[in-house]
Amino acid sequence: MNVEGKEYHALWFENDAIRFIDQRKLPYTFEFYTAHTVDACVFAIKDMVVRGAPAIGVAAAYGMVLGQKDSDGAADKLRKTRPTAYDLFYSIKYMTDGVANGKDALTLANTYAKTIINKCRRIGEHGERLIGDGATILTHCNAGALATVDYGTALAPLRNAHKKKKKMFVFVDETRPRLQGMLTAWELEQEGINYALIADNAAGHFMKKGEIDVVITGADRIAKNGDVANKIGTYEKAVLAKENDIPFYVAAPISTFDNALQCGEEIVIEQRKRDEVLQVNDCDIMPGWINVKNPAFDITPAKYITGYITEKGIEKC
Ligand code: MRU
Repeated sequence: MNVEGKEYHALWFENDAIRFIDQRKLPYTFEFYTAHTVDACVFAIKDMVVRGAPAIGVAAAYGMVLGQKDSDGAADKLRKTRPTAYDLFYSIKYMTDGVANGKDALTLANTYAKTIINKCRRIGEHGERLIGDGATILTHCNAGALATVDYGTALAPLRNAHKKKKKMFVFVDETRPRLQGMLTAWELEQEGINYALIADNAAGHFMKKGEIDVVITGADRIAKNGDVANKIGTYEKAVLAKENDIPFYVAAPISTFDNALQCGEEIVIEQRKRDEVLQVNDCDIMPGWINVKNPAFDITPAKYITGYITEKGIEKC
């Protein structure tokens, strides 16, 4: 991704450490977080220094490089960071299998990162076909370069359409409670793509008025029957899209598909801490005594999904 004229990835490996763009600080400041140890990488994943399933998978791959002296211990710690994103488990298996076959851990992790970027590029090429000139698109959470190392999943088709000079307007859900919509807005701003951030509960309003042509989101895990776990709030957007006859696409690499799970009900939904709801950027927005529930993801049944955009093409339901 291009930030003020310089190309960056969301994370990379350099001088025996993982360097992350610190997503907790964006869009206010552009800072980096450095992890020299597995524990620091574990912290980065848990605390959302890095977020988004494909990027978390790459972080775990590099975490395995840092933890090569005790790879079982490292794998165990990394697996416990976030339960829903399947890429995390996929990449740890990729690393342990590769190392068991005598491959060098850093070479493996770099290859894994490059492969994810290429998959996203291909998702962008396939998905671009869905964006007509003058289209209006709704997206939820952040499924851009920050969430996938580069390009993005849901945002990759938009980047390509923009490159092809198609006119577009993107509605960006703010995505309570961690406000990942800010990150999407920041990425679109860097790209010069027209957008507006909307409150999470505003999407139905715009859909009903006919102002949204297509919805594209990312995914954190996709079960065998096509049910999708994605950021909390995705399900209601999918239901609203169906009600308003708006196509709803999910963009994700094949590494997000978990064929061991038959349906969405089997996907573990991460429950995150209450402070995320009661605070914004460490400032209280509600009194601390209020009882809170904070599921990080929800399940969108396959029947609401028009198609899946993967590196292999667009698969219609
Ligand atoms: O909890 P997060 O911020 O790691 O959530 C991940 C997401 O950004 C998404 O749900 C996203 O849409 C899928 S990953 C590209």
